[in-house]
Amino acid sequence: MAKMWAGRTDGLTDSLADDFNSSIGFDQRMYKQDITGSMAHAAMLAACNIITTDEADTLIGGLEEILSDIESGKLEIDMTCEDIHMFVEQVLTERLGDVGKKLHTARSRNDQVALDVRMYLREEVDTISSYIRELLSALVEKADEHKTTILPGYTHLQRAQPIVFGHHLMAYAMMLLRDLDRLSDCRKRMNISPIGCCALAGTTYATDRRFEAEKLGFDGICLNSLDGVSDRDFALELLSALSILMMHLSRFSEEIILWSSWEFKFIELSNAYTTGSSIMPQKKNSDMAELVRGKTGRVYGDLLSLLTTLKGLPLAYNKDMQEDKEGVFDACDTVKMCLPVFTGMISTMTVCADNMKAAAQKGFINATDLADYLVKKGLPFRTAYKISGQLVAKCIAEGKVLETLTLDEYKEFSPVFEDDLYGEIDLLTCVEKRISEGGTSPQSVEAQIRYVKEKLQ
Ligand code: ARG
Repeated sequence: MAKMWAGRTDGLTDSLADDFNSSIGFDQRMYKQDITGSMAHAAMLAACNIITTDEADTLIGGLEEILSDIESGKLEIDMTCEDIHMFVEQVLTERLGDVGKKLHTARSRNDQVALDVRMYLREEVDTISSYIRELLSALVEKADEHKTTILPGYTHLQRAQPIVFGHHLMAYAMMLLRDLDRLSDCRKRMNISPIGCCALAGTTYATDRRFEAEKLGFDGICLNSLDGVSDRDFALELLSALSILMMHLSRFSEEIILWSSWEFKFIELSNAYTTGSSIMPQKKNSDMAELVRGKTGRVYGDLLSLLTTLKGLPLAYNKDMQEDKEGVFDACDTVKMCLPVFTGMISTMTVCADNMKAAAQKGFINATDLADYLVKKGLPFRTAYKISGQLVAKCIAEGKVLETLTLDEYKEFSPVFEDDLYGEIDLLTCVEKRISEGGTSPQSVEAQIRYVKEKLQ
């Protein structure tokens, strides 16, 4: 069949070329945005006396019917069409006759596709943001349960200083808050309407772009028509924000995987979020976390591929730009799959507080506090430092920890040791002393939780 754009040529294209050229396989998901956009366009054309009100009503009625027929399954999207825009217009014209052909006045597929993608993606931003909020709520709840659960804090993956688990979780909460911020910021620039830029140069009709933009819930219009049809920054910004979000989830996943190992056993994931091995009966694998970590690469790839697609394009529209959609849709789909699974995994995990504490004790991360104790008892710091070091060496040799040495054993190293030493080296005391704002003390964790909760409201 000849194409709707037949004219300059007979429109009889090779079937392989047709398949190659077609985007309906992946842009059909924008049918709702395309139809809604067209309804606003028809209304604008009538408001500006470019078509009659009757014609606009007929067009809008026809478009409404197409929308409900697609949603009810009565109308199947025709995969032989070039794209969703052509499909909708073709069905409209089949159903309404000549008046259907008036819809495309004062617009082009170039501004139409830019409009549809912006409308589609702003909804994705909203959905993804609501998923992040759910993850934040789950994190805050867990953090609240673990304001006094001690574990080693690490630098270089070496035990460094005691922290509470709630503090560790809240670190991720802060990252996710910034992810939310980035999404809402990118949504602002996304929510500017390109419709009315037409093919590239605007139009000779006296259209009202602002009327149409407002009808579609946009905050403004693109002020340069070349830019309006060529700009895909909004998709790149979204891909960047999603890449950073995935990077956060991936780091978190890496810790979940480490913590679930026998070597750490800081947490145990719920059976609902683990898998077994087909050959090793003892296995309980953290596949969900591994997949989130794995899928991060794919989202980065989506960002890189669009950046690369756009880098050499002259203004304005080029067919290369049809390649904008699959990657950004894939990134949204991927993130939308990862977040709810991640939230479920976090809220159902069991925290092995005893193992965390044992690891903190075996790390002798309270040795500094022991030296400080001796200094308070009047010893010079260097002497105190040496005695503490010797006590650590004794513990290592005998498989003990500072908390389990007896007072007699302590007294062999210095007569100034008294019973009160145990309070000083108690790991909870150590974290409680870290009262600086943003530190690991339980009261600071509480303040962080309050802050995030306020932000979520
Ligand atoms: N399917 C096209 C896309 O996704 C729509 C715009 C086509 N415009 C054109 N002049 N060929 O980019």
